[in-house]
Amino acid sequence: MKVLTILIFVSSCACFLNSLSPSIDNVKLVLIQGDNIMNMKPINVTFNDTSTLMMSKSFNKSRTSVILTFGWQCNFTSPIINTIVGSYIQRRHEYNIFVLDWSTYTNQNYLASVTSIPIVADYVANNLKKLIDDDVNLENFHFIGHSLGCHLFGNIGKRLQEIANVTVSRISALDPAGPLFFPSIFLNMIKPLSSTDANFVDVIHTNSGEAGTDKQIGTVDFYPNGGSFQTNCTQLLPNLFNLLNYIIDDCNHNRAWMYFAESVLYDRKDKKFRSVKCENYKLYLQNSCTGAPVFNYMGYYVDQQARGTFFLTTNGQPPYAK
Ligand SMILES: *[C@@H]1O[C@H](CO)[C@@H](O)[C@H](O)[C@H]1NC(C)=O
Ligand SMILES: *[C@@H]1O[C@H](CO)[C@@H](O)[C@H](O)[C@H]1NC(C)=O
Ligand SMILES: *[C@@H]1O[C@H](CO)[C@@H](O)[C@H](O)[C@H]1NC(C)=O
Ligand SMILES: *[C@@H]1O[C@H](CO)[C@@H](O)[C@H](O)[C@H]1NC(C)=O
Ligand SMILES: *[C@@H]1O[C@H](CO)[C@@H](O)[C@H](O)[C@H]1NC(C)=O
Ligand SMILES: *[C@@H]1O[C@H](CO)[C@@H](O)[C@H](O)[C@H]1NC(C)=O
Repeated sequence: MKVLTILIFVSSCACFLNSLSPSIDNVKLVLIQGDNIMNMKPINVTFNDTSTLMMSKSFNKSRTSVILTFGWQCNFTSPIINTIVGSYIQRRHEYNIFVLDWSTYTNQNYLASVTSIPIVADYVANNLKKLIDDDVNLENFHFIGHSLGCHLFGNIGKRLQEIANVTVSRISALDPAGPLFFPSIFLNMIKPLSSTDANFVDVIHTNSGEAGTDKQIGTVDFYPNGGSFQTNCTQLLPNLFNLLNYIIDDCNHNRAWMYFAESVLYDRKDKKFRSVKCENYKLYLQNSCTGAPVFNYMGYYVDQQARGTFFLTTNGQPPYAK
């Protein structure tokens, strides 16, 4: 892990001076319309002009708004967006669905992407705050992020508390990025996601110690298959030549959003992704967790009254839920 952090740091610094500073105007909120992924019609909401949003038939102020975002090297066309948006528009018509597109920042080298987080978070929080004037209740917002996108949403949550005295309802963090955050090289200038950034923070760890982190940073933390390596994913060894693949194409890292997208499709009574509260994976496998069993459900149906760390096993191919 230490070696990996240093490698990324060095490879990031190497091109740091060359990276052009992206324009904050390119950060946009995209409202998704349509009832299946084939006829999905995105509308770009300009942050300084919310009238398009207020006039859209696909936006209803009384409903919960889900905002989804991606991590490093990803963009609006990446599979995570299609997959999670697809699950929501297919099964969950009771939500407003948005994508936060910050791809001009995630397309940079890793260090530049990380250090842009406070700037992007401040911009997005200030623009979301303006929606309060249109009677939009930000306490109904649910952020869903993958990798670096988890820390961006954490920072947006913190900024909204500071500038608008509002705490969003939920942040779902799908394998939050580990490198440069744990351990932090920023002396807390760039804060990682934490459990206080929303009223409820659920974290799914699928590649702890590589692209992700094993740190318990949510209100509840799920560790499917132990949280480090997922079934049917080959374990890559880091080296300078496959560093990029190691971080972004990693099968283990992407499973977090695949599990979440699948959970959106189930009914509550299916009781899928059932997890057990436990101190660690070893005790879970030995059926030796302390006390009477406490269950929770990973993903969409998470129990928001629960606290602590939860463990489960999954299948190695879809459907992942057992
Ligand atoms: C709207 O945003 C999407 C995603 O960022 C982008 O691909 C598309 O070109 C934008 N459309 C317009 C008309 O700006
Ligand atoms: C919004 O900002 C863009 C570019 O920053 C500008 O061209 C446009 O006129 C602004 N619109 C409003 C309604 O202020
Ligand atoms: C907006 O959502 C609320 C709550 O789900 C619903 O009662 C209302 O009919 C919706 N309004 C429109 C115009 O669809
Ligand atoms: C979006 O990301 C994909 C990889 O996920 C890449 O192939 C594509 O070139 C990117 N598109 C843009 C406009 O950067
Ligand atoms: C912030 O909001 C809480 C309730 O949500 C309220 O009790 C408190 O007075 C507010 N603080 C400020 C400074 O407005
Ligand atoms: C791995 O995936 C293949 C299909 O791609 C499946 O046949 C096999 O059972 C999976 N292995 C495990 C251990 O789940």
